[in-house]
Amino acid sequence: MPVAETTSPKPAGEPVTTLKRGLAVLGALAAAPSARMRRGDLVRATGLARATLDRVTRTLVRLGYLRAEENEVVLAPRLLELGNAYLAADPVSHAAAAPARALADALDESVSVCVPDGDGVRFVLQCPRRRAMAVTFHVGDVLPAERCAPGAIFAADWDEDTWRIWRERVKEAEDSRAWAAYPALPAAPPQTAEEAARELPDRIARTAGSGLAVDDQLVESGLVAVAVPVRGRDGRSPCAVSVVSHTSRHTADSLTGYALDRLRACADTVGRALAEDGRTHERPVPDPARSDALRRAKEELGADFLQSLARGLEVLACLRAPAGLTLSEAADATGLARATVRRSLLALIRLGYVAESDGRRFSPLPRVLELGYVPLSRLTFEQIARPHLADLVERVHDSASVSVLDGEHIRYVARVATTRIIGVDLGVGTRLPAAPTSMGRVLLAEDPPPELSAHLAEVRRRGYALTDQELEEGLRSIAVPVRDRDGRVAAAMNVAAHAAHRSLDSLREEVLPELRETARRIEADLAAASERNPNARPR
Ligand code: PHB
Repeated sequence: MPVAETTSPKPAGEPVTTLKRGLAVLGALAAAPSARMRRGDLVRATGLARATLDRVTRTLVRLGYLRAEENEVVLAPRLLELGNAYLAADPVSHAAAAPARALADALDESVSVCVPDGDGVRFVLQCPRRRAMAVTFHVGDVLPAERCAPGAIFAADWDEDTWRIWRERVKEAEDSRAWAAYPALPAAPPQTAEEAARELPDRIARTAGSGLAVDDQLVESGLVAVAVPVRGRDGRSPCAVSVVSHTSRHTADSLTGYALDRLRACADTVGRALAEDGRTHERPVPDPARSDALRRAKEELGADFLQSLARGLEVLACLRAPAGLTLSEAADATGLARATVRRSLLALIRLGYVAESDGRRFSPLPRVLELGYVPLSRLTFEQIARPHLADLVERVHDSASVSVLDGEHIRYVARVATTRIIGVDLGVGTRLPAAPTSMGRVLLAEDPPPELSAHLAEVRRRGYALTDQELEEGLRSIAVPVRDRDGRVAAAMNVAAHAAHRSLDSLREEVLPELRETARRIEADLAAASERNPNARPR
């Protein structure tokens, strides 16, 4: 989607332009079905020249933020680093987590918390009840203010600039580009854009009188919601708490009667927790592996490497601290020069992704969640691992799998087979006894049962396990661990080959390095994806 600039009078320059292009590509992909697009469609969506788009995507692919698949490009899980940084820094989702969960339990209805984001409303916390008729949005989703309950709360605080942006947007509402900015919006909301826009001023006035805002099927037929503001010290509303139900259980009025007292008590609790946000400020620790990776990417791509894009994203990803980072902390965290970090921060501020507070601390803004957080935060482990397994299979021409321990068995959780027939057909979900398999040995070696420990200690020391026709004649395999963000073995990954096609030496010398490199890539994606999504873990 086109990246609107804020109007701050900072000098334009190369970092802004390059970063803006990269963020426009990521934003367009994030709004596309399955977070993937053909290159030609990306050219149309972003307005970039084909050659420019190719340089942008090459840099983003090399950094692991995008994946190239034939003529399509797809967002990659590593991009979650950016949304994770925002949510780690965000005081609201932290302060609201426990009270919102308690409210959802007490009411047995879905509860959500959102923050103002320009002329939209961005969800930062969801405590859903699992029901057939429960349409709720996801963390990171944004709705137009005129289409949801909290919009009438936040619009009361808008400045002239935001009203101007809103008026322009609703004027263009029939234009498909205006809709592209709201991928979560149902295709056919109950009201027309014009009707919804016309009612907003009235809804703001009613909310100012009553201290609550109602969504009576504004965004989706059947969906009703009641929202109350959380009051900040400056009198503005830093966030709002909503309870969401369905017309099969409640009318807007009955939901208000049922929930309002407890909803208000919850908002008060959140407001107090925000006022005393007790999280301690920890200086970020530099990660030399990241600066190394950046340097290698630059060497490898040469003139094609868009340095200001890479650095801008690196700076954005480092802003994870609750109270924001100072310039020198951001320089320490990224290993970049202060002047470089400063240029990146100014570009990010100008593009609306970062704010400066107290004149010296920099924090990410909710708009960062627009960069793929929603589709990527819902990936399963199989979806994360599969493209990496497919790359591996393409290089080694043998089948690759990932499995987890399940009692005394292993269970396959991801697999990509070659077309070569090797006598065993092992789909996802297949269970095999752990002890005679290479993956089983890697998994058992992490926490060895006493009777096996001498043998498995060797597997653990070497970091891989080999089996030679132990499970099935003619089948050899080699496996390595896949570790989670804490360094624990989360799964095992193997390559299995026909004994007639591969010697044990070839498995050790040719396959093992590829297997290890693939494990490293899956681990990086898994670390980003599992920070807030337990379903990203193999299980
Ligand atoms: C939601 O949390 O899904 C939600 C909240 C407020 C609305 C609509 C939906 O007005």
